[in-house]
Amino acid sequence: MGGTHCEMTTLIQHGTIVTAGRTYGGDILIEGETIKDIAQALPAENAGRVIDAQGMLILPGGIDVHTHLDMPFGGTTSSDDFETGTKAAAFGGTTTLIDFAIQPRGTRMRDALDTWWKKADGKAVIDYGLHMIVTDLPDAALEDMDSMVDEGVASFKLFMAYPGVLMVDDATIFKALSRTAKNGALVCMHAENGSVIDVIVQRALADGKRAPVYHALTRPTQAEAEAVHRAIALAEISGAPVYIVHLSSEDALNEVRAARDRGVPAFAETCPQYLLLSIEDLERPNFEGAKYVFTPPLREKHNLDKLWRGLGDDHLQVVSTDHCPFCFNDQKQLGIDDFTKIPNGGPGVENRLQLIHHHGVNQGRISINRFVELVSTTPAKLFGLHPKKGEIAIGSDADLVVWDPNAEHTISAATHHMRVDYSMFEGFRVKGNAKTVLSRGDVIVDNGKFAGRAGRGRYLKRQARGGAWK
Ligand code: URP
Ligand code: ZN
Ligand code: ZN
Repeated sequence: MGGTHCEMTTLIQHGTIVTAGRTYGGDILIEGETIKDIAQALPAENAGRVIDAQGMLILPGGIDVHTHLDMPFGGTTSSDDFETGTKAAAFGGTTTLIDFAIQPRGTRMRDALDTWWKKADGKAVIDYGLHMIVTDLPDAALEDMDSMVDEGVASFKLFMAYPGVLMVDDATIFKALSRTAKNGALVCMHAENGSVIDVIVQRALADGKRAPVYHALTRPTQAEAEAVHRAIALAEISGAPVYIVHLSSEDALNEVRAARDRGVPAFAETCPQYLLLSIEDLERPNFEGAKYVFTPPLREKHNLDKLWRGLGDDHLQVVSTDHCPFCFNDQKQLGIDDFTKIPNGGPGVENRLQLIHHHGVNQGRISINRFVELVSTTPAKLFGLHPKKGEIAIGSDADLVVWDPNAEHTISAATHHMRVDYSMFEGFRVKGNAKTVLSRGDVIVDNGKFAGRAGRGRYLKRQARGGAWK
């Protein structure tokens, strides 16, 4: 009992609390790292710090379950490391991210985990978890998946694309899924038929088609839909749930919907770029289309509205970013003569809440509660962090965003905090932005100014058998 009395207390007053289930007026008392009380008109006298949130919404901190910080790819490395990437995330109201450690072929997952812990150590500003990308799974290494789960790595990503680099075959996918059916982890699938895409790519190159737009033209939506269908079928046979990452097209969404309608535990995320940008961005002149080269690619515009509806109807459950930045001026230029050499990925960790709030809530596509569910609560549940994260409740971590629903902001590389020389959403005007951000009770963004510290972010040991299993 003794120690708690000395802990720093913060009172957030007069705000409107928004959770996935409710919107209500109330004050929040934070003691140390957690929420101690929520009630009307809590006394301010004894609070060490008082934040007046009049006219503001109080949201649970955003959770981005798909980032690639300091990640080697295509002969270069993503330009945000754990310091710059988590700092930018904080500015945008994200207080937790789950990044991907990569097991290089022929190595142990344990080594990859150590490598990613080192990357984050002393740098992370916000709390983070890790998924493990599995590239190599001999039978003798299946038990390594259980060891990962013991370390809190409660999810694995497998690739059905990038042959020769990250792609694994169906037998490997099936074995991994079957193992998770026992250990309770969640398999995240990059669902595109990589072998077929590779043939189409080689044909395009042989025909001299080398501009960025061919990245999209060589990756048909059917190749995504087929892989989604196959991933779900393999999951069904193995008795495990499955989570489709960065779903980009109506065709792929139809596969998820059909499975969910049959009661199959299939889940999927999409990202702001697939909701707001299109293949036309890849046609920008002066090689600027390279800024929009990521995988799966941007699609024809008619897909966008279908994805928004998928979010509204719970056919899609999560919005993540797939933040994987490469600078235009040097890194994207690696593919100036050949679209296959453009490092795949784009920046976005800072803008997710702004974009989904503005284009989702303000445009009447989703409610404010659904917004919270998509960007925070469901990611926390599916990935074994709830109710510590993704919730505003007594006992939860005080990861909170004081959100100004009326703040107007123009997204630009000139003002963003991501370490990348362009924005995919340059010039987008949004209404609604994070004003003050708390992580485990610490104010890390104070009225738009950075107040955090590199290294304060902690590794999160996540629980297996999260929401995907229920
Ligand atoms: O193009 C992308 N998405 N790069 C990051 C790796 C991945 O597939 O998520
Ligand atoms: Zn992927
Ligand atoms: Zn990714």
